[in-house]
Parts: sequence; C-alpha cells; structure tokens
Amino acid sequence: MDSESRFPFQHPKIAAVLERLHDAAKTDKWKLARRAPRFLWFFLNPREMNQRLMHELFHDVYIPVSREQGALLYLIGRAIQARRVVEFGSSFGISTIYLATAVLDNLNSNPSTVGQVIGSELEPHKHALATQNLEAAGLTAIAKILLGDAMETFQTVEAPIDLVLLDGWKELYLPVVKLLKPKLRHGAVVMADNIFTFKRALRPFVEYMQSGTNGFVSTTLKISDGFEFSVFQNPAE
Ligand SMILES: C[S@@+](CC[C@H](N)C(=O)[O-])C[C@H]1O[C@@H](n2cnc3c(N)ncnc32)[C@H](O)[C@@H]1O
Repeated sequence: MDSESRFPFQHPKIAAVLERLHDAAKTDKWKLARRAPRFLWFFLNPREMNQRLMHELFHDVYIPVSREQGALLYLIGRAIQARRVVEFGSSFGISTIYLATAVLDNLNSNPSTVGQVIGSELEPHKHALATQNLEAAGLTAIAKILLGDAMETFQTVEAPIDLVLLDGWKELYLPVVKLLKPKLRHGAVVMADNIFTFKRALRPFVEYMQSGTNGFVSTTLKISDGFEFSVFQNPAE
C-alpha cells in the first residue's frame, strides 16, 4: 500500500468508498479541459459568470478536497472532538465522508453523546449521488446533505457548531461564515479551501479571518490549493 492510499482511520468500508470516489474524480480535469475554450472569456472576467454558466461548467465534476486535506479534516475533527460539523459545498460527498468519519469515531469513543454532519449542495444530481455515497459508506445516521442554497438551508442549523468546512462558490465564504458565526462554539475551527486558486475573490474573506478583530485567529496553510485554518474565540468565554 503506498502512502497516497493510506487513510488515518480504520474503516475498510469507508476507505473503499473514498478510494472509488477519489479515482472517479480524476476525470474532472478532462471534462474541464474540454469546456475551457468556451469559458475562457469568463475565466478572464469572473464577474460575468452567472448561476447558469456555473451549472454548465461544474454540474458533473467532483472538484474535491485532496486526500491530504481529507486526512487533515478528519484529524482536526478528532482533535477538537467535533460533534456538530457544517459543510458549505458537498459535491459528491468526498469531504463529507472524511468529516462524518471523524464524528463517527468521536461518538465511538464517547457513545453517550450525539453527533451530526450537515452538508449542503445546490445541484440535485450531485446531492442524490452524494447521499448514495454516504449510504455506501454507512454514514447516513450521522451525515445529511441539505439540497439548495446553503444561505437558505443553513438558517435552521443549531448551535453549537464545532467545525465548518467552506468549499462552495467563493463569493459566499464570507456570508456563510457571518451566518454561522453566532452558532460557533469557543474554539470552533473553520477550514476554507482554494485560497490560492481564487486569491482575488477570497481576499475579503481572508482579510476578515486574519484581521484579529472579528473573533478569529487564522492562517493560510500551503496545502493543496491553500487551506485557510481559522479558530473562533468567543469573547464571552
Ligand atoms: C468544490 S465543490 C465541493 C467539493 C466537496 N467539498 C468535496 O471535497 O468533495 C463545490 C460544490 O459547492 C456547491 N455549491 C456552490 N454554491 C453553493 C451554495 N450556495 N449552496 C450549496 N452548495 C453550493 C457546488 O454545486 C459544488 O458542487
């Protein structure tokens, strides 16, 4: 077994599902490369991109977290004993599975508590397949993916939230953080993907998280496409 295929947990059934999904995600680059010429103008003028074009470009691609990021998400979830995790942008459920496995193992080590992972996905087709993938991994008792715009579906998420993953469309990272912030527990972790890929679009988000005046301490990790690692410090604690 090479180091790429090692997962930081002992669940053969979950590992098999993740192997299959990471493998399937390798076709993303060919699909996106075929579409690139038609979207060149929008890559150069991202403000002109709209919901319909985003659907056309990304409706069937995984664009998942890397194995390394998945392992880190699992380990952070274990380290902070996460019980309630919220994920903005679930796609086919790869990151959801890493997060739910952390919650599963936290519950296994302390069975008297309850836990949940609340994912979110705009695309009905991705939502349906992500739900099937959670079923195949045996994680549906812990994880559920809400269908629709996270800015609406997250309105009813309960406190306290221990861990948040931001991986949906980039202009919503800051609104989603602001929406969830009143429900974050002291010491909650917020992880945000693609900081380097979408440097300009994510600048207001990164400035907000790193300013030191908004309740977060934060740094950008040079992992994959840039992974923002932020910890919430509730002034009331
Ligand atoms: C980069 S992919 C997520 C990958 C996933 N986290 C993983 O690692 O497998 C981004 C996903 O976010 C979804 N998305 C974007 N904006 C959203 C929104 N406002 N609400 C819910 N989902 C959204 C997109 O449809 C897309 O499938």
